[in-house]
Amino acid sequence: MSKKQPKWLDDAIFYEIYPQSFCDTNGDGIGDFNGIISKLGYIKELGCNAIWMNPCFESPFGDAGYDVSDYYKAAPRYGTNDDLKRLFDEAHKLGMHVLLDLVPGHTSWEHKWFKESMKAERNEFTDRYVWTDSIWEEPEGMGCIRGISERDGSCAVNFFTHQPALNYGFYRPDPEKKWQQSVDDEGPKATLEELKNIMRFWLKNGCDGFRVDMAGSLVKHDEDGKGTIKLWQNVREFLDNEFPEAAMVSEWGEPDKSIQGGFHMDFLLHFGPSHYNDLFRCPEPFFSSRGKGDAYEFVEKYKENYEKSDKKGLICIPSGNHDMDRLARHIHGDELKVAFAFLLSVPGAPFIYYGDEIGMNYVENLASVEGGYGRTGSRSPMQWNSGKNAGFSTAEEDKLYIKLDPDMNRPNVEKAVSDKGSLYNEIKKLISVRQSYEALKSKGGIEFIYAEKNKYPLAFLRTSDSEKILVVINPSGREASFESGLVPAEVLYNFGEKITFENGKITVPPVSAGYYKVNNE
Ligand code: GLC
Ligand code: CA
Repeated sequence: MSKKQPKWLDDAIFYEIYPQSFCDTNGDGIGDFNGIISKLGYIKELGCNAIWMNPCFESPFGDAGYDVSDYYKAAPRYGTNDDLKRLFDEAHKLGMHVLLDLVPGHTSWEHKWFKESMKAERNEFTDRYVWTDSIWEEPEGMGCIRGISERDGSCAVNFFTHQPALNYGFYRPDPEKKWQQSVDDEGPKATLEELKNIMRFWLKNGCDGFRVDMAGSLVKHDEDGKGTIKLWQNVREFLDNEFPEAAMVSEWGEPDKSIQGGFHMDFLLHFGPSHYNDLFRCPEPFFSSRGKGDAYEFVEKYKENYEKSDKKGLICIPSGNHDMDRLARHIHGDELKVAFAFLLSVPGAPFIYYGDEIGMNYVENLASVEGGYGRTGSRSPMQWNSGKNAGFSTAEEDKLYIKLDPDMNRPNVEKAVSDKGSLYNEIKKLISVRQSYEALKSKGGIEFIYAEKNKYPLAFLRTSDSEKILVVINPSGREASFESGLVPAEVLYNFGEKITFENGKITVPPVSAGYYKVNNE
């Protein structure tokens, strides 16, 4: 399927901001738009030229804002719609782009649409959600809200109990179950039109696109994703006509489907069969210097996804996000640098989760905040300096949205920036190398040349029409080698001891990484 491609995505490097925890400017203990605006320069200095911000709309915050109660209104705790528009403007002035987080699959049960849909009497919102037609019938396999409405029925939920599922129809409605509507019925069609209205509203107000939450979850009983793909193709047509510069990134985790649906990029994440966890988050991650990890399954899956997405759709491998453990919970010190040498040399836009650039820790044993549960430890306040509340907020400590990392030696931006050997400075270097070579950027090709079961290192070629770049990564604490006749023409980047090329063999020192230009045969 052809789709309009925003040019700016080609060299976009994203920084994910969890707005609650980034920077608080009015001392209420919660981050805000003005705080983000005040740190745009910092993000740009690191080398990131794009931002993805988690949901910042009105919400009771039962799932940190993924439970929207008004899609058209910024959450007052972050600021007003005008403040958000100013954020877009200020970012644009710096040549940066901003993605909002679109949550199309469900709302909060406090949304006025849901309140209307709970009424017994038919109204405009009766079919906005997936309801059975009897309180005694539950929607199979979906979980539901029941017993709180005047309406006789149970409403399907999409995630937590307080997140009723919006109705985009069933792929093949069961004729015995009249309440299962088809994607072409009026209710589902109206939901989709409203979704486009929401997108139109924010794109007109200056946002540059969306990261789409649970993008694969919209059409029900749609195991192969066919109905949901079709739905997104409809959205793609709308974007091609009205907003060809808008970027669409899906949280789907199945690039073969999402790219067909018209998304530009999809994430490989910690869930599903991507083997992402083998790299960074498992008892023996590939990127640990213990050297007991295995990247083989990941590479196999990656290659499969790469082929299936036609090599055109981009697969993004984020450093982390608000749903998974911090990278630094499992790997440390130089291991993190080697991990970033990988993350910043693969195709697809890199996504750096706020704080990962300074090696922020997962904060252990926190009580759940706003539906975070185990995710709460990855959402703690950004550490800017060694002052009060690490420079995040002037509030009293007990007023902070989430507790700060209590570690006396916790990293902070001020220290990281001034320390030449810091992770921050290594990432900055890596970004500037990536941005200097077409082959290393998002759309350059990738060809794995060494990825063996239970073996180190990992090596691949990145390619463009005119360049060929060899990337060699050895996270292990032991020297590793492999046979290859490739001869480097120029060193573009090196971390650790020097990698040697001799007699058809490449020998890679412990915990090291390198990028080399190689001649085109
Ligand atoms: C996505 C979000 C997650 C949220 C869930 C429900 O996975 O990333 O934070 O809880 O969807 O919206
Ligand atoms: Ca605030």
